[in-house]
Amino acid sequence: MAAPKPTVLIARRLPQVGLELLAGTAQIVEGGLETRPGQLRELAAGVSAIVADPTVAVDDALLEAAGSGLCVIANFAVGYDNVDLDACRRRRIIVTNTPDVLTDATAELALMLTLAAARRTSEAEADLRQGRWSGLKPDAYLGLELSGATFGIVGMGRIGSRYAELVRAMAGEILYVSRSPKQEVERELGAERVGFDDLLRRADVVSLHVPATDETIGLVGRRALRAMRGHAVLVNTARGSLVDEEALANALRSGEIGAAGLDVYEREPAVTDALLGAPRCVLLPHIGSATTRARDAMARLVAESVLAALQGRDPRNRVA
Ligand code: DGY
Repeated sequence: MAAPKPTVLIARRLPQVGLELLAGTAQIVEGGLETRPGQLRELAAGVSAIVADPTVAVDDALLEAAGSGLCVIANFAVGYDNVDLDACRRRRIIVTNTPDVLTDATAELALMLTLAAARRTSEAEADLRQGRWSGLKPDAYLGLELSGATFGIVGMGRIGSRYAELVRAMAGEILYVSRSPKQEVERELGAERVGFDDLLRRADVVSLHVPATDETIGLVGRRALRAMRGHAVLVNTARGSLVDEEALANALRSGEIGAAGLDVYEREPAVTDALLGAPRCVLLPHIGSATTRARDAMARLVAESVLAALQGRDPRNRVA
């Protein structure tokens, strides 16, 4: 008799290309988009692999519920702050992510948010759609022109570097913060490595491209917002926990900074009333990697990682 197929739990949903790759080898159980943590723990009992995403807390309780047969957590994202890596390491569970394939999509969205926030497109479009536009006014919707602007990039990894390439045509200067110097962006794009405070003080645009870690959570709070220029644009496509939303809403309301473009939030999918009511602010629902190309490639990577782990091979994008 053939050995039973291992079970893969898709915590929420995986694009079809990923499901097709897994189908021959594994039995698939899908939680669906509304699955609560308790239901997920029930579904996890006895599975060999779990496909998670940034909304799924992969914690001790889930790992415990899965039991000793669990060998891999494949996260459908480049970020993996939703996964308790130590708990996985203690149980010798492999953890993988999906880097590279979403770099262009996310950097492009950061560029889009930069332009949209600088030019106040959300409030202008909302006025038009809601019948409040009464014709061109010389002094309405005045925004920040980005040609010649100083771009401050916090985190010069894959997405930060691609964002730097994309803004190069407009930028006067490119400043960046990174733990180590990035010779290529310095050589090719003329970027200058500076300290965080220096970047805040000098940049017209501050775009965040660092993961959420103990060191970066709350990075942009009251102090940082005060240090930014009065017309500066803050862009966050990385993780919501990097920015204190209450402080940001206050800074926008009081005119301490110019504008903000956000794709991620502290407590997704909740967005605070303070932010929803803040002026000069473009808010998107975590769509950084939402292109067909990126999401299909992410699904393929996830499936390949699961298959590799189930077959005793080392997956390509292993983070633990
Ligand atoms: C990531 O990959 O970390 C994104 O936030 C998911 O779209």
